[in-house]
Amino acid sequence: MGGNFVVAGGSKGIGLEIVNQLTPFADRIDVYSRSQGELADHENVFRHDMDFTANDLDFSSIPGAVNGVVYCPGTINLRSFRALKPADFVADFEVNLVGAVKFLQGCLPSLKRGAAEGSASVVMFSTVAVSQGLSMHASVAAAKGAVEGLTRSLAAEWAPKIRVNCIAPALTDTPLAARFFSSPENREAMASKYPLGRTGLPTDLASTARFLLSKEASWMTGQVLAVDGGMSTLRK
Ligand SMILES: NC(=O)c1ccc[n+]([C@@H]2O[C@H](COP(=O)([O-])OP(=O)(O)OC[C@H]3O[C@@H](n4cnc5c(N)ncnc54)[C@H](OP(=O)(O)O)[C@@H]3O)[C@@H](O)[C@H]2O)c1
Repeated sequence: MGGNFVVAGGSKGIGLEIVNQLTPFADRIDVYSRSQGELADHENVFRHDMDFTANDLDFSSIPGAVNGVVYCPGTINLRSFRALKPADFVADFEVNLVGAVKFLQGCLPSLKRGAAEGSASVVMFSTVAVSQGLSMHASVAAAKGAVEGLTRSLAAEWAPKIRVNCIAPALTDTPLAARFFSSPENREAMASKYPLGRTGLPTDLASTARFLLSKEASWMTGQVLAVDGGMSTLRK
C-alpha cells in the first residue's frame, strides 16, 4: 500500500497508531497536531504544528497528490445537559466538525490529484454515542452527528473519485479517555459493559482505518462503521 497520507491528530491515541500502521507501506505521511506527542521520528513521516481551532490554517506542506487523509481530533466532554453551556457545544463543534471542514478543504486539491493517479480515501471519526443515546453525551453526540452527516454528504458529492467513510468507536484506551482507565477497578468496570468483554485499543480502530484507506475498501463509501465491542447493537 504505497502512496501519500495525511493524518490530522497523528501524535497520540488512535491517530498515532494509524501512522504507525501506515509507516511501513506509505511513501510519505504528513501529520498535523499541536504537539509531537508520542510520534517517533521516521524518514517518511513529517509533523507540522497546527491547531485546528485556529483560523487561516496553512496547508501548503501537503504534497501535491494525496491518496488518503484521516481526521482524528476529537473531544469527550461528558456533562449533564443542565451543566452544559452553549459555549461547550460550540467548542465541541469547532474541534470535531469545523476543524474537519478546514482540514478537508485544505486537502481537497491534493485528494483530487491522488484520485486521478489511482485512489483517494477519507476517514473521519464519530462515536457510539450518535447511534445509541447515552446520558451526559449531548454535546459530543451532537458534534459527531454532524460529522456523520458531513461524511455522507461528501461521499455523495465526491463520488466516484474520492471515497469518504467514518468510524464510530466506543471507549478506547487513549490519552483522550485516560480518566476512564485511571485504576484497575475503573478499567474492569468499563470492560464489563461491553458484549465482547473489553474496551477498545488504538489498534482496533487503526486497523479499520487502514482498511478503509486501502484499495481493499474500494467499493465502500458513505459508511459509518461501528467498531465498538458490540455496544451499539447487542445486549448481553
Ligand atoms: N478514545 C475514545 O474512547 C473515543 C471514543 C469515541 C470516539 N473517539 C474519537 O476518536 C478520535 C480519536 O480519539 P483519540 O482517543 O485517539 O484522541 P486523542 O488521544 O486525544 O488524540 C487526538 C489527536 O488529535 C490531536 N488534536 C487534538 N485536538 C487538536 C487540535 N485542536 N488541533 C490539532 N490537533 C489536535 C492530538 O494531538 P495534540 O494534542 O498534539 O494536538 C492527538 O494527536 C476522536 O475524534 C474521538 O472523538 C474516541
